[in-house]
Amino acid sequence: MNSRSTRRQFARFGAAASLAALLPRGVFSQGSANKKAIIRADEEIAIVRPDLHSHFAEHLGSCTYGGIWVGKNSPIPNINGFRKAAVDYLKELGVPVLRWPGGCFADDYHWRDGIGAKRPKRVNIHWGNYTEDNSFGTHEFLDFCKLIGSEPYLAANVGSGSPQEMRDWMEYCNYPSGSTLADERAANGSPEPFKVKYWGVGNELWGCGGNFRPEGAAAEFRHYATYARQFGATRPYLVGCGPNGNDARWTRGFMDTLAGGRQPDGYSMHYYSGGSLTPLQFTPEAMYTQLNSFPRVEQAVIQQRTLLDGYDPQRRIGLFLDEWGVWDQMIGDEERRNGKLWQQASMRSAVAAALGLNIFNRQADKLYMCNIAQMVNVLQSVLLTDGSEGKNCVRTTNYWAFMLFKPHRSKMAVRVETDGPKLTDYGRTGRGAAPDPAPDLSLSASKLGGDMVVTLVNPRHDLDMNVDCTLRGVSAKPGRAEILHDSHINAYNSFDQPERVMVKPHEVAVESGRLRVTLPAMSVVTVRLTIA
Ligand code: AHR
Repeated sequence: MNSRSTRRQFARFGAAASLAALLPRGVFSQGSANKKAIIRADEEIAIVRPDLHSHFAEHLGSCTYGGIWVGKNSPIPNINGFRKAAVDYLKELGVPVLRWPGGCFADDYHWRDGIGAKRPKRVNIHWGNYTEDNSFGTHEFLDFCKLIGSEPYLAANVGSGSPQEMRDWMEYCNYPSGSTLADERAANGSPEPFKVKYWGVGNELWGCGGNFRPEGAAAEFRHYATYARQFGATRPYLVGCGPNGNDARWTRGFMDTLAGGRQPDGYSMHYYSGGSLTPLQFTPEAMYTQLNSFPRVEQAVIQQRTLLDGYDPQRRIGLFLDEWGVWDQMIGDEERRNGKLWQQASMRSAVAAALGLNIFNRQADKLYMCNIAQMVNVLQSVLLTDGSEGKNCVRTTNYWAFMLFKPHRSKMAVRVETDGPKLTDYGRTGRGAAPDPAPDLSLSASKLGGDMVVTLVNPRHDLDMNVDCTLRGVSAKPGRAEILHDSHINAYNSFDQPERVMVKPHEVAVESGRLRVTLPAMSVVTVRLTIA
Protein backbone atom coordinates (compact mmCIF):
# COMPACT_ATOMS: atom_id res chain seq x y z
CA MET A 1 0.00 0.00 0.00
CA ASN A 2 1.20 3.52 -0.34
CA SER A 3 1.58 4.36 3.33
CA ARG A 4 5.29 4.57 2.51
CA SER A 5 4.84 7.29 -0.07
CA THR A 6 2.19 9.02 2.03
CA ARG A 7 4.61 9.36 4.94
CA ARG A 8 7.32 10.61 2.62
CA GLN A 9 4.95 13.18 1.16
CA PHE A 10 3.89 14.31 4.64
CA ALA A 11 7.52 14.89 5.51
CA ARG A 12 8.30 16.78 2.33
CA PHE A 13 5.15 18.83 2.06
CA GLY A 14 4.01 19.04 5.64
CA ALA A 15 3.87 22.81 5.45
CA ALA A 16 1.40 22.91 2.56
CA ALA A 17 -1.77 24.74 3.48
CA SER A 18 -4.95 22.68 3.80
CA LEU A 19 -8.25 23.81 2.37
CA ALA A 20 -10.10 21.48 4.73
CA ALA A 21 -11.78 24.42 6.41
CA LEU A 22 -13.46 25.38 3.14
CA LEU A 23 -15.35 22.09 2.82
CA PRO A 24 -18.62 21.26 4.55
CA ARG A 25 -18.41 19.14 7.69
CA GLY A 26 -18.74 15.43 7.22
CA VAL A 27 -17.09 15.42 3.81
CA PHE A 28 -13.84 14.04 5.16
CA SER A 29 -12.70 10.46 5.64
CA GLN A 30 -10.30 9.06 8.20
CA GLY A 31 -7.03 10.66 7.14
CA SER A 32 -5.57 13.29 4.91
CA ALA A 33 -2.34 13.70 3.00
CA ASN A 34 -0.61 16.65 1.40
CA LYS A 35 0.19 16.17 -2.28
CA LYS A 36 2.39 18.22 -4.57
CA ALA A 37 1.90 18.55 -8.30
CA ILE A 38 3.15 20.68 -11.17
CA ILE A 39 1.34 21.84 -14.30
CA ARG A 40 3.83 22.81 -17.00
CA ALA A 41 1.55 24.98 -19.08
CA ASP A 42 4.31 25.84 -21.57
CA GLU A 43 4.98 22.17 -22.39
CA GLU A 44 2.28 21.30 -24.90
CA ILE A 45 1.35 17.70 -25.74
CA ALA A 46 -1.39 17.82 -28.39
CA ILE A 47 -4.99 18.90 -28.83
CA VAL A 48 -7.44 16.77 -26.86
CA ARG A 49 -9.49 15.39 -29.72
CA PRO A 50 -13.19 15.36 -28.75
CA ASP A 51 -13.19 11.85 -30.24
CA LEU A 52 -11.30 10.64 -27.17
CA HIS A 53 -14.68 10.94 -25.40
CA SER A 54 -16.56 8.70 -27.85
CA HIS A 55 -18.97 5.84 -27.21
CA PHE A 56 -19.88 2.35 -28.33
CA ALA A 57 -23.32 0.70 -28.66
CA GLU A 58 -23.83 -2.98 -29.46
CA HIS A 59 -26.78 -5.28 -30.02
CA LEU A 60 -26.18 -6.71 -26.58
CA GLY A 61 -28.58 -6.93 -23.64
CA SER A 62 -30.61 -3.73 -23.43
CA CYS A 63 -28.05 -1.35 -24.91
CA THR A 64 -29.53 -0.86 -28.37
CA TYR A 65 -32.97 -2.46 -27.90
CA GLY A 66 -34.63 -0.81 -24.94
CA GLY A 67 -31.78 1.54 -24.07
CA ILE A 68 -31.59 3.58 -27.27
CA TRP A 69 -34.48 2.15 -29.27
CA VAL A 70 -37.91 1.53 -27.76
CA GLY A 71 -39.87 1.54 -31.02
CA LYS A 72 -42.34 4.06 -32.39
CA ASN A 73 -45.37 2.48 -30.66
CA SER A 74 -43.80 2.29 -27.22
CA PRO A 75 -45.55 3.87 -24.20
CA ILE A 76 -42.08 5.09 -23.23
CA PRO A 77 -41.66 8.70 -24.39
CA ASN A 78 -39.74 8.54 -27.67
CA ILE A 79 -38.71 10.49 -30.74
CA ASN A 80 -39.45 8.33 -33.77
CA GLY A 81 -38.74 5.24 -31.69
CA PHE A 82 -35.63 6.56 -29.89
CA ARG A 83 -35.94 6.82 -26.10
CA LYS A 84 -36.44 10.54 -25.51
CA ALA A 85 -34.69 10.72 -22.13
CA ALA A 86 -31.61 9.02 -23.61
CA VAL A 87 -31.59 11.41 -26.57
CA ASP A 88 -31.85 14.45 -24.27
CA TYR A 89 -29.13 13.29 -21.88
CA LEU A 90 -26.75 12.22 -24.65
CA LYS A 91 -27.20 15.50 -26.52
CA GLU A 92 -26.34 17.37 -23.36
CA LEU A 93 -23.23 15.26 -22.79
CA GLY A 94 -22.15 15.39 -26.42
CA VAL A 95 -21.11 12.09 -28.01
CA PRO A 96 -18.40 12.84 -30.59
CA VAL A 97 -18.39 9.42 -32.32
CA LEU A 98 -20.64 6.38 -31.82
CA ARG A 99 -19.39 2.91 -32.80
CA TRP A 100 -21.97 0.25 -33.77
CA PRO A 101 -23.26 -2.57 -34.13
CA GLY A 102 -20.55 -4.33 -32.10
CA GLY A 103 -18.43 -5.71 -30.59
CA CYS A 104 -18.72 -9.42 -31.14
CA PHE A 105 -22.17 -8.88 -32.66
CA ALA A 106 -20.60 -7.05 -35.63
CA ASP A 107 -18.81 -10.15 -36.89
CA ASP A 108 -22.05 -12.07 -37.35
CA TYR A 109 -24.15 -9.11 -38.54
CA HIS A 110 -25.36 -8.93 -42.11
CA TRP A 111 -26.34 -5.34 -42.77
CA ARG A 112 -28.98 -6.19 -45.39
CA ASP A 113 -31.01 -7.82 -42.60
CA GLY A 114 -31.51 -4.37 -41.07
CA ILE A 115 -32.87 -2.37 -44.03
CA GLY A 116 -36.23 -2.17 -45.77
CA ALA A 117 -39.71 -3.25 -44.74
CA LYS A 118 -39.16 -7.02 -44.49
CA ARG A 119 -36.48 -7.86 -41.96
CA PRO A 120 -35.51 -11.43 -41.17
CA LYS A 121 -35.18 -12.71 -37.63
CA ARG A 122 -31.73 -14.03 -36.71
CA VAL A 123 -30.17 -15.48 -33.60
CA ASN A 124 -27.68 -13.34 -31.66
CA ILE A 125 -25.14 -16.10 -31.14
CA HIS A 126 -22.80 -14.05 -28.97
CA TRP A 127 -25.19 -12.58 -26.44
CA GLY A 128 -27.66 -15.17 -25.27
CA ASN A 129 -29.05 -16.64 -28.51
CA TYR A 130 -32.08 -14.35 -28.33
CA THR A 131 -34.04 -13.60 -31.50
CA GLU A 132 -32.78 -10.45 -33.17
CA ASP A 133 -35.64 -8.94 -35.16
CA ASN A 134 -33.43 -6.40 -36.91
CA SER A 135 -35.90 -3.57 -36.25
CA PHE A 136 -32.88 -1.39 -35.48
CA GLY A 137 -30.64 -1.30 -38.55
CA THR A 138 -28.51 1.03 -40.63
CA HIS A 139 -31.10 3.80 -41.10
CA GLU A 140 -32.14 3.75 -37.46
CA PHE A 141 -28.53 3.92 -36.31
CA LEU A 142 -27.60 6.75 -38.65
CA ASP A 143 -30.77 8.67 -37.78
CA PHE A 144 -29.93 8.27 -34.11
CA CYS A 145 -26.42 9.64 -34.71
CA LYS A 146 -27.94 12.64 -36.45
CA LEU A 147 -30.39 13.17 -33.61
CA ILE A 148 -27.71 13.24 -30.90
CA GLY A 149 -25.09 14.99 -33.06
CA SER A 150 -22.61 12.09 -33.28
CA GLU A 151 -20.37 10.95 -36.08
CA PRO A 152 -21.05 7.27 -36.93
CA TYR A 153 -18.42 4.52 -36.86
CA LEU A 154 -19.58 1.25 -38.44
CA ALA A 155 -17.89 -2.05 -37.64
CA ALA A 156 -18.07 -4.41 -40.63
CA ASN A 157 -18.37 -8.17 -40.51
CA VAL A 158 -15.12 -10.01 -41.19
CA GLY A 159 -15.88 -13.10 -39.08
CA SER A 160 -18.87 -14.47 -40.98
CA GLY A 161 -19.09 -11.82 -43.70
CA SER A 162 -17.25 -11.08 -46.90
CA PRO A 163 -15.34 -8.23 -48.59
CA GLN A 164 -18.30 -7.83 -50.93
CA GLU A 165 -20.69 -7.36 -48.04
CA MET A 166 -18.54 -4.58 -46.62
CA ARG A 167 -18.02 -2.78 -49.94
CA ASP A 168 -21.75 -2.99 -50.66
CA TRP A 169 -22.55 -1.51 -47.25
CA MET A 170 -20.17 1.35 -48.07
CA GLU A 171 -21.80 1.92 -51.44
CA TYR A 172 -25.28 1.75 -49.88
CA CYS A 173 -24.34 4.35 -47.26
CA ASN A 174 -22.14 6.72 -49.23
CA TYR A 175 -22.74 6.61 -52.99
CA PRO A 176 -24.87 9.68 -53.82
CA SER A 177 -27.28 8.21 -56.41
CA GLY A 178 -27.59 6.25 -59.64
CA SER A 179 -26.39 2.83 -58.50
CA THR A 180 -28.90 0.18 -57.50
CA LEU A 181 -27.67 0.23 -53.90
CA ALA A 182 -27.78 4.04 -53.65
CA ASP A 183 -31.27 4.05 -55.13
CA GLU A 184 -32.34 1.38 -52.66
CA ARG A 185 -31.14 3.63 -49.83
CA ALA A 186 -33.18 6.48 -51.28
CA ALA A 187 -36.24 4.23 -51.57
CA ASN A 188 -35.74 3.32 -47.91
CA GLY A 189 -36.06 6.96 -46.94
CA SER A 190 -32.58 8.51 -47.25
CA PRO A 191 -31.98 10.11 -50.65
CA GLU A 192 -28.92 11.92 -49.28
CA PRO A 193 -25.83 9.74 -48.73
CA PHE A 194 -25.00 9.11 -45.09
CA LYS A 195 -21.32 9.99 -45.65
CA VAL A 196 -19.99 7.46 -43.14
CA LYS A 197 -16.28 8.01 -42.65
CA TYR A 198 -15.19 5.49 -39.98
CA TRP A 199 -15.23 1.78 -40.90
CA GLY A 200 -13.90 -0.96 -38.66
CA VAL A 201 -12.54 -3.96 -40.54
CA GLY A 202 -13.92 -6.51 -38.08
CA ASN A 203 -13.81 -6.54 -34.31
CA GLU A 204 -11.50 -8.51 -32.03
CA LEU A 205 -10.28 -10.72 -34.84
CA TRP A 206 -8.10 -12.46 -32.25
CA GLY A 207 -11.30 -13.71 -30.55
CA CYS A 208 -15.01 -13.52 -31.40
CA GLY A 209 -14.19 -11.96 -34.78
CA GLY A 210 -12.85 -15.23 -36.16
CA ASN A 211 -10.04 -16.43 -33.85
CA PHE A 212 -7.37 -15.30 -36.27
CA ARG A 213 -3.66 -15.11 -35.69
CA PRO A 214 -2.23 -11.63 -36.33
CA GLU A 215 -0.85 -12.66 -39.72
CA GLY A 216 -4.25 -14.03 -40.77
CA ALA A 217 -6.03 -10.94 -39.49
CA ALA A 218 -3.68 -8.73 -41.50
CA ALA A 219 -4.31 -10.86 -44.61
CA GLU A 220 -8.06 -10.30 -44.08
CA PHE A 221 -7.42 -6.57 -43.74
CA ARG A 222 -5.56 -6.51 -47.08
CA HIS A 223 -8.34 -8.42 -48.75
CA TYR A 224 -11.17 -6.25 -47.38
CA ALA A 225 -9.27 -3.01 -47.95
CA THR A 226 -8.86 -3.85 -51.65
CA TYR A 227 -12.60 -3.42 -52.15
CA ALA A 228 -13.38 -0.89 -49.41
CA ARG A 229 -13.18 2.07 -51.79
CA GLN A 230 -14.33 5.64 -51.79
CA PHE A 231 -17.98 5.79 -52.88
CA GLY A 232 -18.97 9.41 -53.39
CA ALA A 233 -17.30 12.30 -51.60
CA THR A 234 -16.41 10.56 -48.33
CA ARG A 235 -12.99 8.94 -48.13
CA PRO A 236 -13.37 5.91 -45.87
CA TYR A 237 -11.12 5.74 -42.83
CA LEU A 238 -10.36 2.05 -42.33
CA VAL A 239 -9.63 0.80 -38.83
CA GLY A 240 -7.60 -2.40 -38.57
CA CYS A 241 -7.95 -4.79 -35.67
CA GLY A 242 -5.31 -4.29 -33.00
CA PRO A 243 -4.52 -6.25 -29.86
CA ASN A 244 -6.31 -7.41 -26.77
CA GLY A 245 -4.62 -5.19 -24.18
CA ASN A 246 -0.93 -4.54 -24.60
CA ASP A 247 -0.12 -7.51 -26.84
CA ALA A 248 3.09 -6.61 -28.65
CA ARG A 249 3.22 -9.94 -30.50
CA TRP A 250 -0.13 -9.20 -32.17
CA THR A 251 0.93 -5.73 -33.29
CA ARG A 252 4.26 -6.95 -34.70
CA GLY A 253 2.60 -9.86 -36.51
CA PHE A 254 -0.16 -7.68 -37.92
CA MET A 255 2.05 -4.78 -39.00
CA ASP A 256 4.87 -6.99 -40.38
CA THR A 257 2.32 -8.76 -42.58
CA LEU A 258 1.07 -5.43 -43.93
CA ALA A 259 4.56 -4.20 -44.85
CA GLY A 260 4.63 -2.67 -48.32
CA GLY A 261 0.87 -2.86 -48.77
CA ARG A 262 -2.21 -0.81 -47.86
CA GLN A 263 -1.82 0.45 -44.30
CA PRO A 264 -4.81 0.94 -42.02
CA ASP A 265 -5.84 4.52 -41.26
CA GLY A 266 -6.57 3.53 -37.70
CA TYR A 267 -5.54 0.64 -35.45
CA SER A 268 -7.82 -0.43 -32.65
CA MET A 269 -6.85 -1.92 -29.32
CA HIS A 270 -9.26 -2.99 -26.56
CA TYR A 271 -8.51 -2.82 -22.86
CA TYR A 272 -11.04 -3.78 -20.18
CA SER A 273 -10.46 -3.33 -16.44
CA GLY A 274 -11.85 -6.47 -14.85
CA GLY A 275 -13.42 -6.46 -11.40
CA SER A 276 -13.48 -9.41 -9.03
CA LEU A 277 -16.78 -8.45 -7.34
CA THR A 278 -20.31 -7.42 -8.32
CA PRO A 279 -20.76 -3.67 -8.90
CA LEU A 280 -22.13 -2.62 -5.50
CA GLN A 281 -20.17 -5.03 -3.32
CA PHE A 282 -16.70 -3.72 -3.94
CA THR A 283 -14.22 -3.69 -1.07
CA PRO A 284 -11.38 -1.15 -1.09
CA GLU A 285 -8.92 -3.96 -1.91
CA ALA A 286 -10.93 -5.16 -4.91
CA MET A 287 -11.38 -1.58 -6.04
CA TYR A 288 -7.65 -0.87 -5.87
CA THR A 289 -6.86 -3.99 -7.88
CA GLN A 290 -9.27 -2.81 -10.57
CA LEU A 291 -8.10 0.82 -10.52
CA ASN A 292 -4.49 -0.34 -10.79
CA SER A 293 -5.23 -1.56 -14.29
CA PHE A 294 -5.29 2.09 -15.38
CA PRO A 295 -1.53 2.69 -15.13
CA ARG A 296 -1.31 -0.44 -17.27
CA VAL A 297 -3.72 1.07 -19.80
CA GLU A 298 -1.42 4.10 -19.93
CA GLN A 299 1.63 1.87 -20.42
CA ALA A 300 -0.26 0.03 -23.17
CA VAL A 301 -1.04 3.28 -24.99
CA ILE A 302 2.60 4.36 -24.79
CA GLN A 303 4.02 0.98 -25.79
CA GLN A 304 1.54 0.27 -28.59
CA ARG A 305 2.15 3.74 -30.03
CA THR A 306 5.91 3.16 -29.82
CA LEU A 307 5.50 -0.13 -31.69
CA LEU A 308 3.37 1.55 -34.36
CA ASP A 309 5.94 4.35 -34.64
CA GLY A 310 8.43 1.71 -35.80
CA TYR A 311 6.24 1.13 -38.87
CA ASP A 312 4.71 4.58 -39.09
CA PRO A 313 7.12 7.26 -37.82
CA GLN A 314 4.91 10.06 -39.22
CA ARG A 315 2.02 8.81 -37.08
CA ARG A 316 -0.38 8.62 -40.00
CA ILE A 317 -2.06 5.60 -38.39
CA GLY A 318 -4.36 6.68 -35.57
CA LEU A 319 -4.30 4.57 -32.41
CA PHE A 320 -7.84 3.74 -31.26
CA LEU A 321 -8.92 2.42 -27.87
CA ASP A 322 -12.39 1.68 -29.11
CA GLU A 323 -13.48 -0.49 -26.19
CA TRP A 324 -12.43 0.35 -22.64
CA GLY A 325 -13.92 0.49 -19.17
CA VAL A 326 -14.64 -1.51 -16.03
CA TRP A 327 -16.08 -5.00 -16.41
CA ASP A 328 -17.36 -6.24 -13.04
CA GLN A 329 -18.85 -9.57 -12.02
CA MET A 330 -22.44 -9.84 -13.22
CA ILE A 331 -25.50 -10.63 -11.11
CA GLY A 332 -27.53 -13.37 -12.80
CA ASP A 333 -30.92 -12.03 -11.64
CA GLU A 334 -30.13 -8.54 -12.84
CA GLU A 335 -29.02 -9.83 -16.23
CA ARG A 336 -32.22 -11.85 -16.54
CA ARG A 337 -34.31 -8.79 -15.62
CA ASN A 338 -32.43 -6.08 -17.47
CA GLY A 339 -30.36 -7.78 -20.14
CA LYS A 340 -26.88 -9.21 -20.56
CA LEU A 341 -23.95 -7.35 -19.03
CA TRP A 342 -26.29 -4.87 -17.29
CA GLN A 343 -23.93 -3.30 -14.79
CA GLN A 344 -24.69 -0.73 -12.10
CA ALA A 345 -22.30 2.25 -11.95
CA SER A 346 -20.90 3.58 -8.69
CA MET A 347 -18.55 6.19 -7.28
CA ARG A 348 -15.80 3.62 -7.90
CA SER A 349 -16.63 3.35 -11.60
CA ALA A 350 -16.78 7.16 -11.91
CA VAL A 351 -13.28 7.33 -10.44
CA ALA A 352 -12.23 4.65 -12.95
CA ALA A 353 -13.73 6.66 -15.82
CA ALA A 354 -11.86 9.75 -14.67
CA LEU A 355 -8.56 7.86 -14.38
CA GLY A 356 -9.06 6.75 -18.00
CA LEU A 357 -9.99 10.20 -19.26
CA ASN A 358 -6.97 11.73 -17.49
CA ILE A 359 -4.78 9.21 -19.34
CA PHE A 360 -6.29 10.28 -22.67
CA ASN A 361 -5.42 13.92 -21.94
CA ARG A 362 -1.87 13.07 -20.89
CA GLN A 363 -1.39 10.84 -23.96
CA ALA A 364 -3.30 13.08 -26.36
CA ASP A 365 -0.42 12.94 -28.85
CA LYS A 366 -0.73 9.14 -29.13
CA LEU A 367 -4.47 8.53 -29.27
CA TYR A 368 -6.96 9.20 -32.04
CA MET A 369 -10.24 7.88 -30.67
CA CYS A 370 -11.46 6.16 -27.49
CA ASN A 371 -14.92 4.59 -27.04
CA ILE A 372 -16.28 3.72 -23.62
CA ALA A 373 -18.01 0.33 -23.45
CA GLN A 374 -20.90 0.83 -23.62
CA MET A 375 -23.31 3.74 -23.97
CA VAL A 376 -26.49 2.47 -22.23
CA ASN A 377 -27.12 -0.43 -19.81
CA VAL A 378 -24.06 -2.50 -20.72
CA LEU A 379 -20.80 -2.49 -18.70
CA GLN A 380 -19.53 1.03 -17.86
CA SER A 381 -22.53 2.88 -19.21
CA VAL A 382 -23.36 6.56 -18.93
CA LEU A 383 -27.11 5.83 -18.80
CA LEU A 384 -29.09 3.05 -17.15
CA THR A 385 -32.69 2.05 -17.71
CA ASP A 386 -34.68 -0.53 -15.77
CA GLY A 387 -34.39 -3.02 -18.61
CA SER A 388 -35.68 -2.76 -22.13
CA GLU A 389 -39.30 -2.13 -21.06
CA GLY A 390 -38.39 0.22 -18.21
CA LYS A 391 -39.60 3.81 -18.22
CA ASN A 392 -36.79 5.05 -15.96
CA CYS A 393 -33.54 6.36 -17.35
CA VAL A 394 -30.85 7.68 -15.02
CA ARG A 395 -27.58 9.41 -15.66
CA THR A 396 -24.96 7.24 -13.98
CA THR A 397 -21.92 8.33 -12.01
CA ASN A 398 -19.96 7.65 -15.22
CA TYR A 399 -22.08 10.22 -17.06
CA TRP A 400 -21.04 12.87 -14.56
CA ALA A 401 -17.39 11.89 -14.78
CA PHE A 402 -17.56 12.36 -18.56
CA MET A 403 -19.31 15.69 -18.02
CA LEU A 404 -16.40 16.91 -15.89
CA PHE A 405 -14.05 16.24 -18.80
CA LYS A 406 -16.14 17.95 -21.46
CA PRO A 407 -14.36 21.31 -21.03
CA HIS A 408 -11.04 19.66 -22.06
CA ARG A 409 -12.34 18.94 -25.57
CA SER A 410 -10.37 20.71 -28.32
CA LYS A 411 -7.97 22.28 -25.81
CA MET A 412 -4.20 21.77 -25.82
CA ALA A 413 -3.12 19.17 -23.27
CA VAL A 414 -0.05 20.19 -21.27
CA ARG A 415 2.46 18.22 -19.21
CA VAL A 416 1.78 17.54 -15.55
CA GLU A 417 3.72 15.91 -12.74
CA THR A 418 2.62 14.40 -9.46
CA ASP A 419 4.72 13.04 -6.64
CA GLY A 420 2.97 9.66 -6.54
CA PRO A 421 4.09 6.32 -7.96
CA LYS A 422 5.50 6.15 -11.47
CA LEU A 423 4.03 4.06 -14.28
CA THR A 424 6.98 1.70 -14.02
CA ASP A 425 5.99 0.87 -10.43
CA TYR A 426 3.09 -1.13 -11.91
CA GLY A 427 4.89 -4.16 -13.21
CA ARG A 428 3.99 -7.73 -13.78
CA THR A 429 0.94 -9.28 -12.14
CA GLY A 430 0.53 -12.78 -10.78
CA ARG A 431 2.58 -15.00 -8.50
CA GLY A 432 5.98 -13.67 -7.50
CA ALA A 433 5.24 -10.15 -8.78
CA ALA A 434 5.93 -7.17 -6.53
CA PRO A 435 2.68 -5.73 -5.11
CA ASP A 436 1.30 -2.64 -6.81
CA PRO A 437 1.32 0.67 -4.96
CA ALA A 438 -2.14 1.92 -3.97
CA PRO A 439 -3.70 4.24 -6.55
CA ASP A 440 -2.71 7.85 -5.98
CA LEU A 441 -3.51 11.38 -7.14
CA SER A 442 -4.21 11.54 -10.88
CA LEU A 443 -4.05 14.81 -12.80
CA SER A 444 -4.35 16.27 -16.29
CA ALA A 445 -4.59 19.79 -17.70
CA SER A 446 -5.36 21.55 -20.96
CA LYS A 447 -5.50 25.14 -22.15
CA LEU A 448 -6.88 27.29 -24.93
CA GLY A 449 -6.42 31.04 -25.18
CA GLY A 450 -7.19 32.45 -21.76
CA ASP A 451 -8.76 29.26 -20.38
CA MET A 452 -7.17 26.42 -18.51
CA VAL A 453 -8.92 23.25 -17.35
CA VAL A 454 -7.45 20.96 -14.70
CA THR A 455 -8.94 17.64 -13.60
CA LEU A 456 -7.79 15.91 -10.43
CA VAL A 457 -8.84 12.49 -9.16
CA ASN A 458 -8.52 11.11 -5.64
CA PRO A 459 -8.99 7.33 -5.94
CA ARG A 460 -8.35 6.65 -2.22
CA HIS A 461 -11.28 5.56 -0.05
CA ASP A 462 -9.60 6.50 3.22
CA LEU A 463 -7.64 9.64 2.51
CA ASP A 464 -8.47 13.22 1.63
CA MET A 465 -5.81 14.93 -0.43
CA ASN A 466 -4.71 18.53 0.06
CA VAL A 467 -3.21 19.29 -3.32
CA ASP A 468 -0.72 22.09 -3.76
CA CYS A 469 -0.18 22.45 -7.49
CA THR A 470 2.45 24.78 -8.94
CA LEU A 471 1.49 26.43 -12.24
CA ARG A 472 4.53 26.89 -14.48
CA GLY A 473 4.53 28.99 -17.64
CA VAL A 474 1.29 30.90 -16.96
CA SER A 475 -0.18 33.23 -14.45
CA ALA A 476 -3.68 32.35 -13.33
CA LYS A 477 -6.55 34.26 -11.81
CA PRO A 478 -8.93 32.74 -9.23
CA GLY A 479 -11.07 30.04 -10.79
CA ARG A 480 -14.05 27.86 -10.10
CA ALA A 481 -14.32 24.15 -9.52
CA GLU A 482 -16.84 21.34 -9.66
CA ILE A 483 -16.71 18.05 -7.82
CA LEU A 484 -18.16 14.57 -8.19
CA HIS A 485 -17.88 12.86 -4.83
CA ASP A 486 -19.33 10.32 -2.50
CA SER A 487 -17.26 8.93 0.32
CA HIS A 488 -18.91 5.53 -0.15
CA ILE A 489 -17.15 3.63 -2.92
CA ASN A 490 -20.39 1.80 -3.80
CA ALA A 491 -22.66 4.86 -3.85
CA TYR A 492 -24.78 4.97 -7.00
CA ASN A 493 -27.66 6.72 -8.74
CA SER A 494 -30.74 4.54 -8.41
CA PHE A 495 -34.15 4.93 -10.04
CA ASP A 496 -35.44 6.12 -6.63
CA GLN A 497 -32.53 8.44 -5.99
CA PRO A 498 -31.33 9.38 -9.47
CA GLU A 499 -29.20 12.32 -8.35
CA ARG A 500 -27.43 10.96 -5.32
CA VAL A 501 -24.03 11.31 -6.99
CA MET A 502 -23.76 14.28 -9.26
CA VAL A 503 -21.61 17.30 -9.98
CA LYS A 504 -21.62 20.12 -7.44
CA PRO A 505 -19.62 23.35 -6.96
CA HIS A 506 -16.35 23.01 -5.04
CA GLU A 507 -13.83 25.36 -3.44
CA VAL A 508 -10.48 26.12 -5.04
CA ALA A 509 -7.83 28.71 -4.26
CA VAL A 510 -5.44 30.17 -6.79
CA GLU A 511 -2.69 32.49 -5.61
CA SER A 512 0.96 33.22 -6.33
CA GLY A 513 1.17 30.77 -9.19
CA ARG A 514 -0.31 27.89 -7.18
CA LEU A 515 -3.59 26.11 -7.25
CA ARG A 516 -4.75 24.61 -3.97
CA VAL A 517 -7.65 22.28 -3.72
CA THR A 518 -8.78 19.62 -1.30
CA LEU A 519 -9.99 16.37 -2.82
CA PRO A 520 -12.10 14.34 -0.43
CA ALA A 521 -11.61 10.59 -0.60
CA MET A 522 -13.24 9.20 -3.77
CA SER A 523 -13.62 12.39 -5.76
CA VAL A 524 -13.11 13.90 -9.20
CA VAL A 525 -12.63 17.68 -9.40
CA THR A 526 -12.43 19.88 -12.48
CA VAL A 527 -11.02 23.38 -12.02
CA ARG A 528 -11.47 26.11 -14.62
CA LEU A 529 -9.00 28.97 -14.55
CA THR A 530 -8.45 32.17 -16.45
CA ILE A 531 -4.80 32.37 -17.48
CA ALA A 532 -2.48 34.89 -19.05
O1 AHR B 1 -18.34 -4.92 -24.90
C1 AHR B 1 -18.66 -6.26 -24.76
C2 AHR B 1 -17.77 -7.16 -25.62
O2 AHR B 1 -16.47 -7.05 -25.20
C3 AHR B 1 -17.72 -6.81 -27.09
O3 AHR B 1 -18.76 -7.36 -27.80
C4 AHR B 1 -16.42 -7.38 -27.52
O4 AHR B 1 -15.83 -6.68 -28.58
C5 AHR B 1 -15.57 -7.35 -26.26
O5 AHR B 1 -14.95 -8.55 -26.00
